[in-house]
Amino acid sequence: MSTSQWEKMYHQKLSSAEEIVSQINSDSLCASACALGEPVGLSQALAVRAEAENLTGISHHLLLVLKDLKYLQPDMTDKMKHVSWFTSGYARKPVQNGSADFMPCFYKDAPMLWQEFVKPDVFYATVSPMDKHGWFSFGVAASVARAAMSRADKTFLEVNRHMPRAHGTGVVHISEVDAISENHSPLVELAQAPITPKDEIVGNLIAEHIPDGATIQFGIGSIPNAVGQALKNKKNLGVHSEMFTETMVDLIECGAINNLRKQINPNKSISCFAIGSRRMYDFIDDNPGIEFHSIDYVNDPTVIGQHDNFISINATIEVDLIGQACSESIGTRQFSGTGGQVDFIRGAGMSKDGKSFLAIHSTAKNDTISKIKPVLTMGAHVTCSKNEIDYFATEYGIVRLKGKTASQRAKALISIAHPNFREELTQSARQMHLIA
Ligand code: COA
Repeated sequence: MSTSQWEKMYHQKLSSAEEIVSQINSDSLCASACALGEPVGLSQALAVRAEAENLTGISHHLLLVLKDLKYLQPDMTDKMKHVSWFTSGYARKPVQNGSADFMPCFYKDAPMLWQEFVKPDVFYATVSPMDKHGWFSFGVAASVARAAMSRADKTFLEVNRHMPRAHGTGVVHISEVDAISENHSPLVELAQAPITPKDEIVGNLIAEHIPDGATIQFGIGSIPNAVGQALKNKKNLGVHSEMFTETMVDLIECGAINNLRKQINPNKSISCFAIGSRRMYDFIDDNPGIEFHSIDYVNDPTVIGQHDNFISINATIEVDLIGQACSESIGTRQFSGTGGQVDFIRGAGMSKDGKSFLAIHSTAKNDTISKIKPVLTMGAHVTCSKNEIDYFATEYGIVRLKGKTASQRAKALISIAHPNFREELTQSARQMHLIA
């Protein structure tokens, strides 16, 4: 078909958000593209309709970053329930108080869950404007989009000219879509967590272990960002990371990342999603050096493991003396999600000369709580089993847990705990017969 025919099809499918959501009934399961892929106009219109027409039992699934959404208000819970696939930001409170639910999963499995376990009635997403060939881009939210869309009965898109047009496989064709609306509100921008002096120490310690030519993954939080800042003098780094970050833009701009040494996808930074500043969105827009793909490819440990010197850097919440870590709850209080943490630890473990780092500040709450504990806090969700963590870092040093006995692990972890807690931890380790 010619360009004008795709344009004709676009105009045939173009509608208002209100008209589109009038096709969604009570008890529908609505899957959204993740994070900035949430179509704000459609989800707000759906909440308005649910309230006005007393629809009930609609569930709305995604990794949420937007705030002040009507469906998150406490009086909306029986009408529209949010199901978080990663409990962070504005989803945290609703999950903690029980008004929203969450979906435990390794992120690499999210597409499979959409394919085999969770059947969506509706898929909706924000996309960049259509190109002359009839394609839209899921932009900085490729992640699970195609997998959820392919199982949904109906696909609705919200076109936003502020969504970058990203390269990669996160695309959808006009012929696959049931209806389109337009909403050109600026994309939400998220400031990076500020880097503290403790982050800088941990960042510098980890950076010493990263060779030139390594391919890197950064997880969430100020410690991975601090590692990034410490890599500015490295050479020939590559990116293969679930999340594309501001720090990666800095490292590309200063020449430390050039992706030339990657064994697969050379010359390209590979990622699934991004949340950051307009400067980052502009950097991604139509940039052939960055590709966004589905998460079951990017987070697949066998794909990650094809890179030599793969380095993954993630943060955690607490670790016990045998080396199992909780990265997603504070006791029973859900705080985050598994995300891609375990996927990347496993992938780095398969990489020739690869290393995975799990990092933490030794204490929380002004040095009153040790994050290295005899046992995990009651109710803590185990994210990384004791059998998968390789390197573990605090501001007091880095230890390697792989190949260490229970007793050696306890001693190693105590050696990088905050000095105020080392004696107490040693006594607990003795009581648990971990050390003599
Ligand atoms: N006990 C009590 N409070 C704790 C705590 C502990 N063990 N650990 C953290 N906290 C508190 C902190 O004090 C802080 O509170 P404040 O905001 O009042 O200062 C808050 O919890 C956040 O902790 P912080 O360590 O600053 O979080 P972060 O932004 O660095 O993120 C994780 C750390 C672990 C939550 C984050 O990396 C994550 O979500 N990881 C799991 C998923 C993942 O790694 N994905 C990677 C692939 S994209």
